[in-house]
Amino acid sequence: MLQKPRGTIDILPDKSVMWQKVETILRETAATHGYGEIRLPTFEVSELYKRGVGDTSDVVQKEMYSFYDNDGRSLSLRPEGTAGVVRSVIENSLTSGAMPLPVYYLISCFRYEKPEAGRSREFYQFGAELFGAEQPCADADIILFVADIFKKLGIKDISLEINSIGCKHCRPIYNKALHEYFEARRSELCDTCLSRIDSNPLRILDCKSPICSAIAENAPKTIDYLCPECAEHFNELKSLLDAAGADYKVNPSIVRGLDYYRRTVFEFVSTAIGSQSTICGGGRYDGLVEELGGPAISGIGFAMGLTRIMLALEAQGMVEKPQTADIYFAPMDKKALTFSFTMAQKLYDMGIRADFDKVGRSLKAQMKYADKTGAKYVAVIGETEIESGEIKLKSMADSTETVVSLDAEVIAKAIGKI
Ligand code: HAM
Repeated sequence: MLQKPRGTIDILPDKSVMWQKVETILRETAATHGYGEIRLPTFEVSELYKRGVGDTSDVVQKEMYSFYDNDGRSLSLRPEGTAGVVRSVIENSLTSGAMPLPVYYLISCFRYEKPEAGRSREFYQFGAELFGAEQPCADADIILFVADIFKKLGIKDISLEINSIGCKHCRPIYNKALHEYFEARRSELCDTCLSRIDSNPLRILDCKSPICSAIAENAPKTIDYLCPECAEHFNELKSLLDAAGADYKVNPSIVRGLDYYRRTVFEFVSTAIGSQSTICGGGRYDGLVEELGGPAISGIGFAMGLTRIMLALEAQGMVEKPQTADIYFAPMDKKALTFSFTMAQKLYDMGIRADFDKVGRSLKAQMKYADKTGAKYVAVIGETEIESGEIKLKSMADSTETVVSLDAEVIAKAIGKI
């Protein structure tokens, strides 16, 4: 038997109802906060991620699904959404329109990671990006947009952690301190981190090897090396979060795994879903639009993993049941089948979920089927019903029966649908 590739998931109809509910809340909350949807290609030229996400990041070095197309171009399945959004914003000159520019996306992403609960190779993200807003109030506003989403989704046991990782002015000084720290522990680092000591020592801080992460724990912290402007930006962000009554913790260890971040970084972490506990991550990436060939416009955004949201909702016992038929018609013969079939078409037209026997089951088997699939009402149609023009509507909840005429409007009214 052929099986799905390792690290992918099948979302079956009994689970997809919950996904749809979550997606609706995400889209509605995005609209409330003024974000419009952007839909982009699933693959981009590999160069975009090398320059955007950073060629010393784990994502680019180890996790991309890259391939050559028939014309020999190197393409990659998107490992995340931000780089593609920035590419599109530049390519479509969106930066020359009204600013700031808020966009959101609901996408699948691909990373060759070790699969476990909450971590897969194809996964789903809801993300948002805000271009052209440099003030700390933009940082606070987008963080509270995420908090609003979690509130609307009803997710509890989730906490906000923030940090600042400096800008192009203070980062070199911090990098020097990091370089010195790791240089002294060179012999203990893994091969990948060894190659990062000179090129990008910050990336050693999110290495997943247990030895490197233990060494990284005592490394210098970005927050102690911020320039006055970055320190002021961070302080203002904290004041605004305080003013909004938001709960948060400063976690100086957050550096995020992608190279484009500057200044504010943040994560929303759940205590209910196991080791892959970061449901949402984001931050500011001033400089990325310019780096990818656009104007000097700032950016800030976040992305949250949908699988992790589902895990959190399931951990709270929240389940969404699939919809069942409002009415099931059980025909006793061929003529009755035609009546059932046409009645179902009329009810579909009225937006009512109707069903009827499509496989030629016996009446007993049809009743069993209606019960098993959770139909709310059942109506048997035979010669008597067709002749009298009346059917008995049986409520499956309490077995009561009501006689009504065989007419779509009357049936719809009787089952409480109009
Ligand atoms: P990220 O932290 O790499 O950030 O991913 C964001 C979220 O996607 C994570 O917090 C997690 O919930 C989910 N996620 C990541 N990898 C996996 C995986 N292998 N399996 C399941 N879920 C996963 C970004 O992608 C940035 N683009 C976020 C951003 C937007 N920053 C600024 N704008």
